[in-house]
Amino acid sequence: MREEIGQEARYRHSIGVARTAERLAMAHGLDTRRARLAGLFHDLARLWSRDRLVAEARRRHLTLDAFALVYPVVIHAPLGAELARERFDIRDEGVLDAIRKHTLGDAHMTPLDVVIYLADALEPWRAYDGRAAMLETALRDLGAGMRAVLESTLAHHAARGLTPSPKTLACARAYGIAIPEELLHA
Ligand SMILES: [Fe+2]
Ligand SMILES: [Fe+2]
Repeated sequence: MREEIGQEARYRHSIGVARTAERLAMAHGLDTRRARLAGLFHDLARLWSRDRLVAEARRRHLTLDAFALVYPVVIHAPLGAELARERFDIRDEGVLDAIRKHTLGDAHMTPLDVVIYLADALEPWRAYDGRAAMLETALRDLGAGMRAVLESTLAHHAARGLTPSPKTLACARAYGIAIPEELLHA
């Protein structure tokens, strides 16, 4: 995996996500091995160029929506799931789905999807205000952790004039979050 990723910072992040996912799974009575595997392999395509992401996704007949064509970096999530299967023989569809949903979230999230989404945002190598407190929240209550991370993500988008993906908005709505007005017309 370290060779496949090819960069120490991204490798370190992947280990951080695997360990954080394992902690979250343990705290909430979920399968720690599945959480660790999904965390380990979630970012296999994260360092690929835009052109490579689009080309490799097309080669595998992955569906690319309008958002993915404008922001190809998000393709690393569904493509990462394909690489986990092809190169590491991961066959567990629940693990692969958690990898697919880790960047944008989704209207429908299983507990494992949630664990990986949160671990990606909250692993210890990520440095931003409020991270540790949000991780404590997530260890106590996955739903509260999701609301905290999604609210902070939407606030970040609003502050920078960025458009969130329809999947992230659907995910936020599923958690009962009021979407900031300026994001609805972005
Ligand atoms: Fe990622
Ligand atoms: Fe990541």
